[in-house]
Amino acid sequence: MPAEKLTVLIVGCGNIAGRFDERRSADALPYTHAGAYRYDGRFLVQACVEPDRQRRQAFQQYWGIAQGFTQLSDVLGAGKHYDVISICSPSAAHFQDLQLAIKLRPRLIFCEKPVTYSVAETERIIADCESLSILLMVNYTRAWDPACRSLQADYAAGKWGALRSVMGLYNKGIFNNGSHMLDLLSMLLGELHLQYAGRTVYDFFADDPTIPVVLEGGNSVPIHLAISHAADYAVFELQWVFEQGIVLMEAGGFNWRVRGVEDNQEMAGYRIVQKGHFQAGEYEQAMLRAVDNIYRALMAGEALAKSGRDALQVQRLCAQIRQSALPSQGDIQDL
Ligand SMILES: NC(=O)c1ccc[n+]([C@@H]2O[C@H](COP(=O)([O-])OP(=O)(O)OC[C@H]3O[C@@H](n4cnc5c(N)ncnc54)[C@H](O)[C@@H]3O)[C@@H](O)[C@H]2O)c1
Repeated sequence: MPAEKLTVLIVGCGNIAGRFDERRSADALPYTHAGAYRYDGRFLVQACVEPDRQRRQAFQQYWGIAQGFTQLSDVLGAGKHYDVISICSPSAAHFQDLQLAIKLRPRLIFCEKPVTYSVAETERIIADCESLSILLMVNYTRAWDPACRSLQADYAAGKWGALRSVMGLYNKGIFNNGSHMLDLLSMLLGELHLQYAGRTVYDFFADDPTIPVVLEGGNSVPIHLAISHAADYAVFELQWVFEQGIVLMEAGGFNWRVRGVEDNQEMAGYRIVQKGHFQAGEYEQAMLRAVDNIYRALMAGEALAKSGRDALQVQRLCAQIRQSALPSQGDIQDL
């Protein structure tokens, strides 16, 4: 007899809930919550919440979801229960939605990042979840990206020798994309310490500026995060400068470039970094691995690769960066 499926409620029916996958082929590895639950096959998305009626209906139709609600409080009123609740509403709505989701007593909440914009609010959500034994998992996606995990393991095993420095390039807000970068850095380098926060640039979100940052990670590794402007293009890149070469994560993890070291054939005594080779990333596997983590956590007690407490640590650092940053110089405040 097939195992019973875990039931799911999705809150917010936009891009990360499902829309990113709606124009992709049905067999493509999913980027979204609805896509991952469906592809995995051990979940049943029974209901969704979306205030925009047209969007809600389109979402229900595309993903074959039986029930749609305008707001989360209506679900509460209907006395429904779900094993898993995915929070995919806009970040500013997370705190309220999380509070209501907790009242529904799911077994696990899978929350989009950032959990909230306030450290105190995130602390409260974590405390409430813990007191009711609700698992809280946060979608810092690279926690499930096999290529990022391999880099973490290779670094820990000393495959590339000492890590000399890390350089990053990001845009679209320190709490939004910046927190993804800080989360990945902390996976390799443990606790990160802020050295310098530069000037705020409001390049996308009115409440979340992009900020250049200098940090120090474990083993005193220096980390420099430069910024670009979200109006120009999206960018999320990291360059890991090791003793024995340079590893570059590009296009958010869709491409990697690995550059070893060789003797310079023309100038005796010089060692140079090779052009290296490109290899495809494994980011596409991350969402599937995330929902597999949910299934195993609920069915077999597996640890969550990214818990609310992990996310809180990153959020505290984002808040410190935001607080220490220099004021913007009349840049594009309201793009
Ligand atoms: N992990 C990632 O890589 C990643 C990528 C994209 C977005 N995100 C995060 O996902 C969240 C949603 O982003 P998005 O790009 O999908 O946004 P979106 O605007 O495409 O979708 C949000 C949807 O939620 C609906 N909504 C608004 N208020 C609501 C409420 N209170 N309850 C339920 N639904 C509500 C909106 O009408 C909209 O359809 C954000 O927190 C964002 O930071 C994460």
